[in-house]
Amino acid sequence: MKRLAWIDGSICDLSEAKIPLEDRGYLLGDGIYEVIKIYNKKPFYLWPHLDRLQNSASGIEMEIPYSMEKIEQEIDNLIKMSECRGGYLYMQVTRGAAKRDHLFPEGTSPSMVMYVREYTSPASIEDIEPSNCITLPDERWMNCYIKSINLLPNVLARQKAANAGAQEAILYRPGGTVMEGTRTNVFAVIDGIVRTHPESRLILSGITRMIALELLEKLGIPVSEEPFQVEDLEKASEVWTTSTGMEIVPVANIDGRAVSESVPGPICRSLIEEFWEKIENECYGGGKRCD
Ligand code: PDD
Repeated sequence: MKRLAWIDGSICDLSEAKIPLEDRGYLLGDGIYEVIKIYNKKPFYLWPHLDRLQNSASGIEMEIPYSMEKIEQEIDNLIKMSECRGGYLYMQVTRGAAKRDHLFPEGTSPSMVMYVREYTSPASIEDIEPSNCITLPDERWMNCYIKSINLLPNVLARQKAANAGAQEAILYRPGGTVMEGTRTNVFAVIDGIVRTHPESRLILSGITRMIALELLEKLGIPVSEEPFQVEDLEKASEVWTTSTGMEIVPVANIDGRAVSESVPGPICRSLIEEFWEKIENECYGGGKRCD
């Protein structure tokens, strides 16, 4: 695969890509992003990602400088030119490069970049490494529905988790309500019901979360999008996280306590199987996933 970058319409080698020093994304974190998975050379659930990109842009009062149709074409072309079969596409839009000032710049148009990286999905459920999590206070802002490039609280929490030997931190707000992970949405099976925080300004509306909810409904598994507490995790029979990058990852251990004896549990296992079938139907014409 070739590592290419797309910067405002021009394509170059990723290692040679350059961004102006005064780009507001770099200086002020004034921008938004998306991560889109590529299976079998096709972007998976592209339009929900593009809708969310537009929603994030309006959340920060910025206009995306291209139509969504144009972005779709450019993505297809970049995937083709990259010769990428399986990977992910990172896309970022900032308010452009201008003399540093907190005020929105006048006469500067937003700048958009994209690049593709390879990624190999697990071949079977046995290949998925269950994660260990810690719980931490959510120190982020009040507009987490915006996929902002300001990820410092997420970065710090993820590092704290790593320092504690865990792969993810489950974040809770004052009062103990579980929100989501640093880069994932969180699901827990509590008293036989799948729970996940409802969509709100305080979580990112994950595309994988949305797909998981559709699939759980198809499986006839009861779901409640009601907030739940960090203490409820102690009685959860299954916990998993969802994200574009890592798909559905069963959680083995939270704050040093095993979630259950068998990980993934039965609901998570059925959900992963359904999720992979969805990928096969959307991107492989119903055939087997092979990269
Ligand atoms: N993270 N919550 C947060 C805070 C996230 O950053 C993400 C995604 C998710 C899951 O959303 P989705 O299913 O649409 O990927 C939930 C991306 C992948 C990242 O930052 O790399």
